[in-house]
Amino acid sequence: MTLNLVPFVSVERMMQLVLHLGVERVLCDLAAEIEADFRRWPAFDKTPRVASHSDVGVIELMPTSDGETYGFKYVNGHPSNMKKGLQTVTAFGLLADVATGYPLLLSEMTILTALRTAATSAMAAKWLAPAGATSMALIGNGAQAEFQALGFKAVCGITEVRLYDIDPEATAKCVTNLAGSGLRVVACGSPEAAIEGAQIITTVTADKQYATILTDNMVGAGVHINAVGGDCPGKTELHRDILLRSGIFVEYPDQTRIEGEIQQLPADHPVTELWQVIAGQTPGRTDARQITLFDSVGFAIEDFSALRYILAKARQTGHFDNLDMIADPDDPRDLYGMLLRAACRP
Ligand SMILES: NC(=O)c1ccc[n+]([C@@H]2O[C@H](COP(=O)([O-])OP(=O)(O)OC[C@H]3O[C@@H](n4cnc5c(N)ncnc54)[C@H](O)[C@@H]3O)[C@@H](O)[C@H]2O)c1
Repeated sequence: MTLNLVPFVSVERMMQLVLHLGVERVLCDLAAEIEADFRRWPAFDKTPRVASHSDVGVIELMPTSDGETYGFKYVNGHPSNMKKGLQTVTAFGLLADVATGYPLLLSEMTILTALRTAATSAMAAKWLAPAGATSMALIGNGAQAEFQALGFKAVCGITEVRLYDIDPEATAKCVTNLAGSGLRVVACGSPEAAIEGAQIITTVTADKQYATILTDNMVGAGVHINAVGGDCPGKTELHRDILLRSGIFVEYPDQTRIEGEIQQLPADHPVTELWQVIAGQTPGRTDARQITLFDSVGFAIEDFSALRYILAKARQTGHFDNLDMIADPDDPRDLYGMLLRAACRP
């Protein structure tokens, strides 16, 4: 094996791979991979992500390791990008072999982040949402939205999505993209209309401020809230009173207390770590009338699981290119000699 050639999954290759496997299959596979890694949570190095904030957004690094493989993601969040014709969230990521430190994979992760976020949301809902949920409100119909809808269809058996966005063009795009998905798609004129009859409410809006996408009176007993868009200091989606009525489930408390909806609460407000529910250490939903809240911010282990899955599938299908990105002279001490010899090449 030539270690200096690193498998690279470009955007084009990622699209080929996902279309080859099928979007819903990838979402189900990712949910299973992420769930398996949550079950062995203590095996991972964990740290809140390293964030560099500016007035308009954030750039973050998200590292983790299970002792055999190391991974990190570079990701940004710039809500104002959309008005410039740019993505709010872009990302790429890397896996490396802990034994040598050599990279194993470099991959685009803008598409993969949307897939892994939806897979994580749906996986969490599998454990927390009311039994037999079939209808989901989807508030915020941007880049992540269709992935969320399809994740909940594939993993949780949702049959209806009720869409709302402050920008009707975003909703119209979503309606078009989800036609033929097998979901009943209902475009709604207000958030109140969207949540009507829904057992699951997903909020996935982008705004760099304390927003109130849901007020307390909009949330009835027994619903599951999947709050995805509040993922930065000063950027939340739910009224604080909803949090006080909810059983709150988080990925990694040290990060969520900085970035999630719970930044609105005192630092000792009780929360449950989702991995403990999956590992059978603590109950998830405790009764049919409980409001459950998955305060999603996105954690490094989800990206690690997604990258490992993509590496395995890329190897199986050949949907990757080799990248000459590690200098690896035959004599490891002769790095300069390698440079000299390159100068002599015709
Ligand atoms: N938790 C995670 O793991 C995770 C992962 C990826 C993205 N995100 C977050 O999810 C959010 C959405 O990301 P995206 O890539 O879809 O962004 P996007 O900019 O493509 O879409 C956001 C949508 O929200 C709408 N919106 C803004 N304010 C609204 C309001 N008050 N009511 C209804 N709709 C409103 C916008 O019109 C837009 O269509 C972002 O905040 C992003 O940071 C979280």
